[in-house]
Amino acid sequence: MDKRAKGIVLAGGAGSRLRPLTNVTNKHLLPVGRKPMIFHPVEKLVGAGIEDILVVTGVEHMGAVVNLLGSGRAFKCRFTYKVQDESGGIAQALGLAEEFAAGGPTAVILGDNIFEDPLGPYLDKFMRDGGRGAHILVKKVEDPGRFGVAEMSGDRIVSIEEKPANPKSDYAVTGIYFYDAEVYSVIRKLRPSARNELEITDVNNHYISNSSMRWSPMTGWWSDAGTFESLSKVQRLVEENPPRC
Ligand code: G1P
Repeated sequence: MDKRAKGIVLAGGAGSRLRPLTNVTNKHLLPVGRKPMIFHPVEKLVGAGIEDILVVTGVEHMGAVVNLLGSGRAFKCRFTYKVQDESGGIAQALGLAEEFAAGGPTAVILGDNIFEDPLGPYLDKFMRDGGRGAHILVKKVEDPGRFGVAEMSGDRIVSIEEKPANPKSDYAVTGIYFYDAEVYSVIRKLRPSARNELEITDVNNHYISNSSMRWSPMTGWWSDAGTFESLSKVQRLVEENPPRC
């Protein structure tokens, strides 16, 4: 097993909340600041010292994504690509990374998550724990019901609810996750949710119930960019306080 962490960017999904921008273009290719959105998570992973990065996207956009990113030479990393045949959820997309991970730990970023902090210090924290279990990053937000929401008790997360109608806290679970290779056996046992997807929140709740989940608050700004509102918010944040790698 390779003990160094590898990186995974999940860039699939229909981007339905951004139609018609996403009618023929993958959401992760839309501009954020002066770059395509997907450059941001890639640069965060490379900035954290990660050299091997898997990019997962749907079959209809893989050509454009490979055209844009290439081998990785321009980013000082090596890309591997995996096709997700259908929009089966974030956990299903992550499940495609098992061979790539080769028994080692991984840093996973949802391709529409844009944030200010460098990733390195958070990854170092996970690796200091031996790269075992899972570690998530949370951020206080004004509209928690749009996200996975962490229910806290003191400094412990007791559970995560996906897009709850009555959020139990203001802490959104960001799309930045660190996992050991156990995650693939967890994913294999998942059942599809009501929206017929394998949910990353179910994966995280599994680690919580095993007491092997740790978490950190994000200090800098964070936002997803999957809706018109959040995409334009991110444009402003990136201009005002550029992300640091
Ligand atoms: C996903 C996750 C959610 C998380 C969010 C972060 O939601 O399911 O738990 O809080 O990403 O961006 P989605 O944006 O795919 O609906």
